Amino acid sequence: MSERAAILVTRKLPEAVEARLKRDYRVHLNPEDVLYPARKLLALSRNADAILACHTEHFDAEVIAQLPERVRAIANFSVGVDHVDLEAARARGLIVTNTPDVLADATAEVAILLMLGAARRASEGERLVRSGEWNSWSPAFMVGTQMTGKRLGILGMGRVGQVTARRARGFDMRIHYHNRQRLPAELEAGATFHESVEDLLPHCDFLAVHCPSTPETQDLINAKRLALLPDGAILVNVARGNVVDEHALITALASGRLRAAGLDVYKNEPDILPALRAVTNTFLLPHIGSATRETRDAMGFRALDNLDAIFSGAEPGDRVA
Ligand code: DGY
Repeated sequence: MSERAAILVTRKLPEAVEARLKRDYRVHLNPEDVLYPARKLLALSRNADAILACHTEHFDAEVIAQLPERVRAIANFSVGVDHVDLEAARARGLIVTNTPDVLADATAEVAILLMLGAARRASEGERLVRSGEWNSWSPAFMVGTQMTGKRLGILGMGRVGQVTARRARGFDMRIHYHNRQRLPAELEAGATFHESVEDLLPHCDFLAVHCPSTPETQDLINAKRLALLPDGAILVNVARGNVVDEHALITALASGRLRAAGLDVYKNEPDILPALRAVTNTFLLPHIGSATRETRDAMGFRALDNLDAIFSGAEPGDRVA
C-alpha cells in the first residue's frame, strides 16, 4: 500500500475535521493555532504533499515560487481565495481549491445582523447599557431606522448574496442587485437587475457588499460611488475589506451622508484603521461571517473532500486553479 499523503494544516480546525484528517492522512496540525509567518510556512511545507490553509496565510507569487516541488495543492478552508495568487499557482501547476456553498447561510445571517445592528444603532445602545451611562428613555432616545420595507441593493449575487436576498424578503425588503451576469428568473425571484454598479447604487437604502475580492473589485466602492447612494443609506460588508475604500467610507460616515455601516471585514484586519474604530455610526464585527459550528465543520469536510479527490487522482469539485 502506498504511503498516505502528508498534509500541513495551518490553523486549528474543528475536532471532527482533524479526526478525519488524522484517519486518512499523515498530518502536521497546529494545536496552538499560531499564525505562521511565510518563512515558517515554507519550512513546514518541506514535508507536505498539500497544505490545508486559511485566508490568514498569504500565498503570493514569491511564496508560491519557494514552495517545495512535492507540494501539489493548497486546499483552502475558505470560499475567498484572494490570499492566493492564482496566476502564480497555475503557472507552477499547483492545484488550488476553496469551500463554496457551505458558508452561505452563516454569512447571510451576519449580513442581516449587520444591517439590523447598523440601522438600530446596536453598538451605541450596547455601549450605553454596559457602561452604566444609560439613564433615561424618551421618544427621541436612540432613534434609528427600519429595515422593513426598504430597498436592499446586493452587490454580487452569488450564493451568499442570494441567501441574503431571501432572508431580507422576510423583512419585506425590495431587492435590487448587480452581478457580472444576470441570474435566471427563478433565482432572481423578482429582484431588479442593474447592468452596472453605478445603476444599482441610487436604488439602495441598504447596500450589502457580497462580491469577491479580485483585482477588478479593489476599492470598487470608492468616494465617487458612495456619492451615488441615497442620503442616509446604510452599507454592510461581509465579503472582503478591500472592496471598499475605507477612507472614503469614514468620510461619508463622519459627514452623515451615510447613516451607518455594518462591517465584518476590513482591509488590513485585524489591524483596522483607528479612524474606523472612532466613528460611532458603525456596527463592527471581527470577521465572523462563517463562524458557526455547523459551517466550520462543513468547510473542513469540503476541504477534505477536495484533498481526497486530489490524492485519488480525481478532479477536485472546488478547483479554482
Ligand atoms: C471565507 O471563507 O472566505 C471566509 O471569509 C473565511 O475565510
